[in-house]
Amino acid sequence: MRISVIGCGYLGAVHAACMAKLGHEVVGIDVDERKIAELAAARAPFYEPGLEDLLREVQETGRLSFTTNLAEARGSAVHFVCVGTPQKKGENGADLSFVDAAANGILPYLSPGDLVVGKSTVPVGTASRLAELVRKEQPGAHLVWNPEFLREGHAVSDTLNPDRFVYGVVDGSEEHPAVSILDEVYSAPLASGTPRLVTDHPTAELVKTAANSFLATKISFINAMAELCEAAGADVSQLADAIGMDDRIGRKFLNAGIGFGGGCLPKDIRAFMARAGELGADQALTFLREVDAINMRRRTRVVELSRELCGGSLLGQRITVLGAAFKPESDDVRDSPALSIAAQLQLQGAVVTVTDPKALSNAYQRFPELNYEADSGTAVQDADALLLLTEWKEYCDLDPYELAVSVSSKRILDGRNVLDPSKWRAAGWTYRGLGRS
Ligand code: UDX
Repeated sequence: MRISVIGCGYLGAVHAACMAKLGHEVVGIDVDERKIAELAAARAPFYEPGLEDLLREVQETGRLSFTTNLAEARGSAVHFVCVGTPQKKGENGADLSFVDAAANGILPYLSPGDLVVGKSTVPVGTASRLAELVRKEQPGAHLVWNPEFLREGHAVSDTLNPDRFVYGVVDGSEEHPAVSILDEVYSAPLASGTPRLVTDHPTAELVKTAANSFLATKISFINAMAELCEAAGADVSQLADAIGMDDRIGRKFLNAGIGFGGGCLPKDIRAFMARAGELGADQALTFLREVDAINMRRRTRVVELSRELCGGSLLGQRITVLGAAFKPESDDVRDSPALSIAAQLQLQGAVVTVTDPKALSNAYQRFPELNYEADSGTAVQDADALLLLTEWKEYCDLDPYELAVSVSSKRILDGRNVLDPSKWRAAGWTYRGLGRS
């Protein structure tokens, strides 16, 4: 099938490459000329494992091209809208200007029978509004909401083998003509057993925000337990293992630490609250305010613990932060808790050096005032304290004996609870975890 993908960021670039991998003829479109030039040269404009190899592989087939010219969407049967919906400046709501621009931009190029397929995370009600625009311009075309659940760092495999597909169509009916077209787009993963659900527009939009809110709630729940564990002298990692053995609870997303960040969970729960307010259902989501507050409290807690670790004052203390990305296997620093903690420590008088295998250039753009060092061996040299804030494998595998000769004081704060406290203590380190006695 001929497919256009509008918006080539984390979501769209991966989606375009994966659709070509599934055998479709794909054009990726974005207003950012630099991004398009990179993608056209089979280079990923951001770090995502496996993406660059995939771009090279599918571009050799001639099935994937990139352009800044939206008119090249003409002739595609399916147009995926993959643009960002960031948080509005100074407000909780989502900024829909990119979605609106993409939807309006595609209208002149639609033919009867075409699908406009929204994948971006949007406030409930957006799809119905856009469907009306499409209907007015091209009554034979259809708007579908088909949310994306991919995780950064696993984006290629999540797109090729998702947990489920959700198709939101105007009448919520399996018989809607858009259903068979999307089935053709996703024929390979469907054939290998991926389930799919057909819903109406608002349900499809809500599936995405509800899923992200649940994940955020799970993380804040375990972080609230971490606060209690600290107060009571208990261990939150063991607690998570034990409650996670109950199938109804499950162990995933119960890792206590410095909390969630990134370009999705924080802004999605805020936009969800804002939208619930507009719908007069704000009470239903007031708990998300607490989820957000617990999450932000983690960052303050780490600053306090760092002060304790440094003997009561941060002034002049050389602190090395291991990890800047919001999670490992990503170079994304949007709302990264690690970076926000590093900046707070610096503001409070510490001399902070940040290291990360992939995210340093993004981190520098966000907080140019911090010191950055790409080589982790150099970064830890003469440190008064180490803070492990993003659980890259190379940091989880650090050897406390080897590291001891580099640092000035053997103090480590494990912000992700990924190190073995007994091993580090046996090597003479002062170890602090979060929610661990
Ligand atoms: C998330 C959703 O998982 C994905 O389905 C959706 O499409 C986009 O948003 P992503 O932002 O890539 O994906 O990251 P995710 O793996 O969900 O992690 C989010 C944050 O939560 C990270 O900062 C991570 O470090 C943190 N986290 C995750 C925890 O603190 N504890 C956990 O147990 C799990």
